[in-house]
Amino acid sequence: MKALVIKKPGEAVVESMAEPVASEDTLLLRVRMVGLCGSDLNSFRGKNPLVTFPRIPGHEVAATIVDGSKYNPALAAGTAVTLSPYTSCGKCASCLRERPNACQFNETLGVQRDGALTEYITIPAEKLYPANLTIKELCLVEPLTVGFHAVARGRVTAQDTVAVLGCGGVGLGSIAASHFCGAKTIAVDVDDAKLSLARKVGAGHTINTSKEPLRRSLLDLTDGLGPDVIIEAIGQPQTFRAAVEEVAFTGRVVYIGYAKELVAYETRLFVQKELDIMGSRNALPQDFRQVIRMLEERRFPVDDAVTSVLPILEAPDILRAWSDNPARFTKIMIHLD
Ligand SMILES: NC(=O)c1ccc[n+]([C@@H]2O[C@H](COP(=O)([O-])OP(=O)(O)OC[C@H]3O[C@@H](n4cnc5c(N)ncnc54)[C@H](O)[C@@H]3O)[C@@H](O)[C@H]2O)c1
Ligand SMILES: [Zn+2]
Ligand SMILES: [Zn+2]
Repeated sequence: MKALVIKKPGEAVVESMAEPVASEDTLLLRVRMVGLCGSDLNSFRGKNPLVTFPRIPGHEVAATIVDGSKYNPALAAGTAVTLSPYTSCGKCASCLRERPNACQFNETLGVQRDGALTEYITIPAEKLYPANLTIKELCLVEPLTVGFHAVARGRVTAQDTVAVLGCGGVGLGSIAASHFCGAKTIAVDVDDAKLSLARKVGAGHTINTSKEPLRRSLLDLTDGLGPDVIIEAIGQPQTFRAAVEEVAFTGRVVYIGYAKELVAYETRLFVQKELDIMGSRNALPQDFRQVIRMLEERRFPVDDAVTSVLPILEAPDILRAWSDNPARFTKIMIHLD
């Protein structure tokens, strides 16, 4: 079978390798399409210390079950599925608290283990989510779950005003989830194209902070109070700080972004505003089920959210082009049919 292999930072090739064989605990899947995300780009650039080489990337997967489950009729041969690319150890503090999304010893497909950019993979049945979706939609489930999980962490309700900082793949998931909860949703970015996509996804208001002041615009939209919830989905020191500075008193701040440098804070605001400040990592099974429901109801502009769909043979070139010019692409998908 063909597989995309990152041999070393900056070098990806399509190679031929043996097909995997299902075991007692896993099912064999034929991969149909794989979405690329920022973490795959990081792997390609050699910027993720968790990645060793050679490594097969890819964890946003649409696949078809080859040999059905003996135990679960919902996982019959031929069923279209997406999957959760994480593992959980069952023993760490997160797992014991039934929060396996934040497992201390998580291994993500394509990061610590080989990923899905191959024609066939094997995977435990409990990681699979069958859904009545197109292959493109199946690939969008996992990236959207990350933003959905952050909205669940923020306990967002229809009474809330939520500002989402950053409208990349991750932020869009939070915008969709916040809108899905009935909250008034404000999208913040520096790129008008991203903001126009955010509106299609469900943002009622947008703020381009390269043209408008964030504080004034947020106060105008919230009767001078500030948003009840701010979700940070960028990962820069100034946006990490803006979240605690601009959120309402007694508001909630949820961080999804990974800051690449130290962030200095006026910690007085944590106390004075009596804030709930939370991290949000990966996603839980209920986030997968919610995203699938939203996509099955056709409430997400799938075609606007995907910029390119290419065959695996073109994957090495597109990785290079994306690495050279990240702003040119929103979401790249690789098909294996
Ligand atoms: N916690 C998790 O489980 C998890 C999972 C995946 C990704 N992440 C992190 O989430 C973050 C976002 O990921 P992504 O894939 O959506 O990234 P992305 O690069 O696609 O999106 C970032 C968005 O932020 C905008 N932006 C950049 N600087 C800005 C600024 N100063 N003000 C306003 N907008 C700005 C960009 O225009 C872009 O639209 C990253 O830090 C990533 O590492 C976290
Ligand atoms: Zn991803
Ligand atoms: Zn664990």
